[in-house]
Amino acid sequence: MRSWTGSVAFLTGGARGIGLGIARALGKRGVRLAVTDVDAVALERAGEELADLTEVTTHRLDVRDRDSFAAVADEVERELGQVDLLFNNAGIVPFALPEDLTYDKWDLSLAVNLTGVVNGVQTFLPRMIERGAGHIVNTASGAGLVADSNVLYVTAKFAVVGLSESLRLAAARHGVGVSVLCPGPVDTGIVANTRTLEADVALRDDLVPAVEEFLRSGPGIDEVGEMVVAAMNAGKPWIFTGDEVRPHLEERMKALLASV
Ligand SMILES: NC(=O)c1ccc[n+]([C@@H]2O[C@H](COP(=O)([O-])OP(=O)(O)OC[C@H]3O[C@@H](n4cnc5c(N)ncnc54)[C@H](O)[C@@H]3O)[C@@H](O)[C@H]2O)c1
Repeated sequence: MRSWTGSVAFLTGGARGIGLGIARALGKRGVRLAVTDVDAVALERAGEELADLTEVTTHRLDVRDRDSFAAVADEVERELGQVDLLFNNAGIVPFALPEDLTYDKWDLSLAVNLTGVVNGVQTFLPRMIERGAGHIVNTASGAGLVADSNVLYVTAKFAVVGLSESLRLAAARHGVGVSVLCPGPVDTGIVANTRTLEADVALRDDLVPAVEEFLRSGPGIDEVGEMVVAAMNAGKPWIFTGDEVRPHLEERMKALLASV
């Protein structure tokens, strides 16, 4: 198992939730951190906290903004050195009923949850290939393996799984590893954060209590951070935070295979 001590990790959406949990787990192991997020206030708070663990820089970055991505990557390399570990984690939980779908809602949801990951890969993959080393962890969801009725979310997350599995195959010969994190429920503020950041695709009010209760049933962010680091160290292709998805995956695979 690799220790990663002294290496550099770049995280998107790292100021809160799962990203912060991963940052803490890495920081405890002496990994130096470039933490980025679109929320400046949360970012400052995270930076202060993580500085007790390791060397950390913070950068406001909207994952949709390709120019900023490249500029922040250059800044991080100047300040901390080459990035060894990339966590494309930023995301929202958008929602629209089928009759309420619009191009704007599609564009917004895919821009954050899918193109944001593409932008991270496209910023750092060439640098990792040039060095012949690196590891990328993309955050998808259990909803990237088994569909539910939230088409905006599921579409992007299935794509992130496909991107990750394919890139893992393609990039291995360059020494670049890829894992995809498929969390089940994790106790974070993603529903409220999505409402604040992207009100146009926020979850309908009457659905919020049940979804938030579901998220609270899952592990906390520190437990998830430890799981992610352990699974990444073991080179696992898929990283899970619980087994909630198993029966649904079994049902899907059975139905799929029966249809072939
Ligand atoms: N919480 C869960 O139960 C759960 C389950 C499955 C998958 N996920 C995925 O995990 C990832 C992290 O979610 P979380 O639950 O920790 O949520 P969170 O809201 O706690 O953290 C997400 C972070 O991403 C940031 N962010 C949002 N849009 C951004 C943008 N355009 N650019 C940069 N940063 C942006 C937010 O400010 C926030 O700090 C997401 O991709 C989410 O889809 C979460």
